[in-house]
Amino acid sequence: MSLVKGILRRLFEQVEKGFDLAFSAAWNPFRQLGALGWFFYWIVAASGIYLYIFFDTGITQAYDSIEWIMNDQWYVGSVTRSLHRYASDALVVVVVLHLLREFSLDRLRGRRWFGWFTGVPLLWFIYACGISGYWMVWDTLAQYIAIATSEWLDTLPFFGEPIAGNFVNNAALSGRFFTLMVFIHIAVPLLMLLLMWIHIQRYSRPRMNPPRGLAAGTLIALVVLSLVFPALSQAPADLDVVPAEVGFDWFYLAAYPLLDVVPGGQLWLGLVISTAVLAVLPWVPPEKKQAAARIDLDNCNGCARCAEDCPFEAITMEPRSDGAAYDTEAVVNINNCTSCGICAGACPTATPYRRATALTPGIELPAYPIAELRERTISAGEALQGESRVLVFGCEHAGRLDTLDGADVATLTMPCVGMLPPSFVDFVISRRLADGVLLAGCPAGDCYQRLGNEWTQQRMTRERDPYLRSRVPAERWRLCWGAAHDMRSRRAELRRFQSSLEGLSPIKARALGPRREAQVG
Ligand code: HEM
Ligand code: SF4
Ligand code: SF4
Repeated sequence: MSLVKGILRRLFEQVEKGFDLAFSAAWNPFRQLGALGWFFYWIVAASGIYLYIFFDTGITQAYDSIEWIMNDQWYVGSVTRSLHRYASDALVVVVVLHLLREFSLDRLRGRRWFGWFTGVPLLWFIYACGISGYWMVWDTLAQYIAIATSEWLDTLPFFGEPIAGNFVNNAALSGRFFTLMVFIHIAVPLLMLLLMWIHIQRYSRPRMNPPRGLAAGTLIALVVLSLVFPALSQAPADLDVVPAEVGFDWFYLAAYPLLDVVPGGQLWLGLVISTAVLAVLPWVPPEKKQAAARIDLDNCNGCARCAEDCPFEAITMEPRSDGAAYDTEAVVNINNCTSCGICAGACPTATPYRRATALTPGIELPAYPIAELRERTISAGEALQGESRVLVFGCEHAGRLDTLDGADVATLTMPCVGMLPPSFVDFVISRRLADGVLLAGCPAGDCYQRLGNEWTQQRMTRERDPYLRSRVPAERWRLCWGAAHDMRSRRAELRRFQSSLEGLSPIKARALGPRREAQVG
């Protein structure tokens, strides 16, 4: 399984590299697939509401009402109808890419199962929406879909009367089934919206909107496509005639040609088995359970920074249970915690300067204690030699950072760079453990742990608590975000950083001010 994920990852990385150049990392659509899914959903919903106002739900009037919308409303009707179709197609594309990408990044196993598991039924909802939509136009494609789908449904043992009987000829045609289709085409998207909402419940600040520029560009592209190639109906349906040729939408109807070669029952079975296989992927193979973040109430002052920064809604602030003078305390929901450590990076008590008491912060990962990080930092720093010694603090998902190591470079990795309290950077520089600190993580907007690199950047630039102290010269630290495979760029960035350090005057203890114990971030 990891081989398949690895190959897919390489493929995505290659394609994303090109898109990074064309769109910039922040606007790269591959990093915005979930948000683009929402965006296309809203376009489909808005255009659908408009079309429904003019759509006649009678089986004999449906086709004509769509022709009227297309031809008699100047461009508005035509563009709206085309937007409805093209945004639906685009939704399929981004959702399939989103699924493959999340799979390749392995963001589905262990306690991250929820997003994947709730995503799987969304696939059925999307297809039910699309297929019922094509049906409503009642042209020759709809005729093909009506006959093929009803015959396919008849292979299931649920229906008393064969549904296909409704479509043998024009005389047998009943408006009943057609009305059901209209109802499905309205009810399923509403249920889908509910499921989309459930899908993002375990994320704080889920990205539901693409960056404005990307959204505007995408909408403009869809409008231009709608003007140049308006979505057209085919000839009106006529059940007394077998259509010789039918234009096809492969995004939604790719399974239908299979019905010519595979019996309908087997195709259902295949789809159900594929869905079940997809649904259990978060447990294949089972992930080694990592201990969840642990609270130490004696060191928790209820500041809520950890709850603010946790990307997985795993921390709630509850009334104090130990009689201490604070109103609230942090509580970890171990079912949601992915052991990313970002909460430890946010906690004001996670500072390497503490010496009076043992270095136990209010919250930390049992597998990566902050006290141990302090020891590793000191011993790595003390072993460095040279004129421009650099300590690299990096994320385990940001590539083989240890390959950067040398006499003057040492790397310390953690589950996410967001686990590093900024006071560690101050500590390294003020204790002259290194001449500079490089923080290495995933590309901007694409953190494996969702928000780690964003919070790190904001903490370092003093926009988010806990701040890096202003006494740390900006030239002494550098952020290095990038794709895991791209070690060449990281090495180049490290070299540039090292040469910039060479030109700096040596760190003076005086310039950094007095040392304070138990300092906050
Ligand atoms: C209408 C369809 C879908 C929409 C609109 C959608 C949207 C989203 C959004 C907005 C996020 C949160 C991104 C973030 O802020 O980090 C997300 C995460 C995710 N989605 Fe979807 N999604 C859809 C379908 C699917 C499907 C079909 C799957 C796979 C079967 C899937 C799997 C996931 C996974 C694994 C995550 C991330 C989990 C994690 O980071 O722990 N999604 N999706
Ligand atoms: S950041 Fe630390 S001190 Fe603040 S609430 Fe969380 S555990 Fe408590
Ligand atoms: S380790 Fe990560 S997921 Fe767990 S509580 Fe801390 S910030 Fe949240």
